[in-house]
Order: sequence, then structure tokens, then C-alpha cells
Amino acid sequence: MKKPVYPNLFKPLKVDGLNFKNRITMAPLYLGYAESGGKVSPLMLYHYKLMAQSGAALIVVENSSITPEGSGSPRTLRCDNDRYINGLERLAMAINGEKTLAALQVNHAGRFAYVDEPVAPSAVKTFGRTPRALTKKEITNIQKQYAKACLRVKKAGFDLVELHGGTGYLLSGFLSPRTNRRKDGYGGDIENRIRFPLEVLKRVKDLVGDFPVGYRFLADEWLPDGLHLDESTVLAKALEENGVAYISVMGGTYESFLLPEIVRKSGKPGYMVSLAHAVKKEVRVPVIAAGRISTPSRAEKILKEKKADLIGLARMLWVDPEWPVKAKKGQDRSIVKCNPKCDACTKLATQGRPAFCPRWNKEHREGYRELFM
Ligand SMILES: Cc1cc2nc3c(=O)[nH]c(=O)nc-3n(C[C@H](O)[C@H](O)[C@H](O)COP(=O)(O)O)c2cc1C
Ligand code: SF4
Repeated sequence: MKKPVYPNLFKPLKVDGLNFKNRITMAPLYLGYAESGGKVSPLMLYHYKLMAQSGAALIVVENSSITPEGSGSPRTLRCDNDRYINGLERLAMAINGEKTLAALQVNHAGRFAYVDEPVAPSAVKTFGRTPRALTKKEITNIQKQYAKACLRVKKAGFDLVELHGGTGYLLSGFLSPRTNRRKDGYGGDIENRIRFPLEVLKRVKDLVGDFPVGYRFLADEWLPDGLHLDESTVLAKALEENGVAYISVMGGTYESFLLPEIVRKSGKPGYMVSLAHAVKKEVRVPVIAAGRISTPSRAEKILKEKKADLIGLARMLWVDPEWPVKAKKGQDRSIVKCNPKCDACTKLATQGRPAFCPRWNKEHREGYRELFM
């Protein structure tokens, strides 16, 4: 039998009882494709079916809000009410129908929420807006909303749910010494700052029972007074102890993404791999590395050197859904690559407009555009 070109990339892995057919996962990528109001749209079904057809083992669907007050934009998916279950069910089926595992990411956008009065652990000004500090009662209520949302994800037929603990949204907002200035049991030293995400995880697990829960993990805020690895790894170990299925590592928040040195760093291949590696050294639970892993040879090297257990492709898969097929054949050179100087998808999506990639050919673009409502 012919030896596989990238044996580590195509080695199966068991993750919390689920069989991953290879090490390729789609990292969550919000593209503004949901209907205005947060329902699953025909474009979204088309898009995720295409992503699932790529041959990746797992598709993690972009963030969906656990409460209307925690939504990031009008076109952010929602899972805060049972009325969204039907649409989500169709989405899970579109992915599972391609023999691909499906996860849905759930989120409360905290200080970045698209509402007049955003909430956060503390009233720390962000881009000219000061969020309101949550009361203890509200904290408990939000934790319950996380759990209920995750139960909906299970009911909709997804294989697992992912808690969004990145990007400076609510879970990571509690972790950060910059944005959490609380004087109660949820603030102060790191043991207190991890309390909120851990309590969310516990409530979720209590309600969903035997259903895997992954965690998108902010390893470093890339801000001098922010969260760094010495503290974030405390959460990583606690997440492992409390039964997460995997830890999917990322760096930066909206406050750091636009800093010139971070823009430069984020243009480089594998720019978040060192963070994943640092986390992997502290835990045994599978770790996902993402961030411009543009070639299968780079992905293979990351796995071979044990810097991560799984590869997360966001824009890298969207720009070329044939990435996994080409990887299997060793056709690295024919992969369509994301242009590091472009930020069109980020710009459009953050403006609440649907994103289409300038690197696509005409036919691919038409397929997407036709379905946008
Ligand atoms: C337009 C855009 C939307 C994103 N949406 C999400 C999201 O909903 N949830 C999340 O955890 N990360 C999100 N990310 C981060 C990606 O999952 C990923 O970590 C990052 O883009 C690096 O991977 P890549 O170079 O393969 O795109 C987003 C990134 C971009 C550019
Ligand atoms: S080329 Fe531009 S639009 Fe396409 S994935 Fe890369 S950043 Fe996004």
C-alpha cells in the first residue's frame, strides 16, 4: 500500500468518545451568512455543507448567541430560544450528511455585544463604550442561559458544543486582569477569575450529561496589561480536570487585533501555534492549533513535533475547501491561499455584511452570492 504523504495529519483520533477521521477541523468563522435576526439561512446551509464536504473531521460552526443581549451582530446565529432548534437541526444534518462531525460554538459577546447597554465583569471602557458590571444574580442567570443553549445544541443533533472563551467576549472577559476588576469571588487573583468560566462549564455539563463540550481558549491577550500564558494555563488545567473534550487555542482580542505589531504577527504562517504548544505542555486533553496553517506540510510538522493534536483551519478552509483533499494527495502547491495583506472577510463580517473572498473563482463566488438574502 502507498504510504500517506502526511501520516500524522490523516491519523484518526478519539476525542471524548467521538471518532475523528483525521486531524483536520474547521475553526469557527463568522461570515455574516445567518438571516438578519440570527436564524439559519439557505446560504448558511450551502456554506457548511461545502465545508463538510472538504473531508475535515470536524466542522465547528461559528459563534451563536446564548441570549439576545449577548449577540455580536444582527447576523449572528442564535441558540437562545427553542424556536431556533429547527434551523440548527438542518445545519447539523447538512454537516453530518457528509459524514463529518458537527459542533456549534456558543457565545455571550459581553462588552462587544451589539446592544445599547453591554454587560461585562466590570465597567471598563472599551472603544468609547463603558459596559455595565454584572450583578451576582445576573451572573447566575447567564450561566443558566449557557446551559440551556448547550442543551438546545444537543437537541438539534450536533455531535458536540464549543464554549467560546476567546476574542475578549464574556468568558474571557472574566479571565482578564484588564477587564475583570471585581472585588467579589469572581475577581482578584486568577483562582477567582477562572470561577465564572468553570461554573459555566459545570452547569453546562450537569444539564447536557453525556455530550462532549469543547472550549475555545484565549491563551494570551497580546496586551501588556492583559492575560498571559502564566495565568491562562491555570484555566487550561482546570478545564481539563472538569472534563472538556478539547482546548482550541487562540490569541488576541478586538483591542489587540488592530495593533500594528499584532497585524504583522497575524500575517505570519502558524502565528498562534506557539500558544497552542505552550498549552499542550500543561494538559493531556487534545489541543487544537489554528492561525494561518496554510499548507498541509506545515500542519504535518506541527503534529509531528507534538505542538498540537488537531489542526484548526478557518479562513484557510473557506478560501480553499479542497485543502484536505489536496493534502491527502500531497498537492500543497495547488492550494489557494489566503492573502495575508487582505482583511476583506473580517471587515465585511464585522460590518454585519456577508463575506465573499476575492481569491475565489467566478463560479465559486456566484454559488455564494446567489443564495444571499
Ligand atoms: C472573519 C472571522 C470570523 C471569525 N469568527 C470566529 C468565531 O465565530 N469564533 C471563534 O472562536 N473564532 C472566530 N474567528 C477566529 C478563527 O477561528 C481563527 O482562529 C483565525 O481566523 C485564525 O485561523 P485562520 O488563519 O485559519 O483563519 C474568526 C476569524 C475571522 C477572520
Ligand atoms: S483572502 Fe481576504 S477575504 Fe479571503 S480569506 Fe483571506 S483575508 Fe479573508
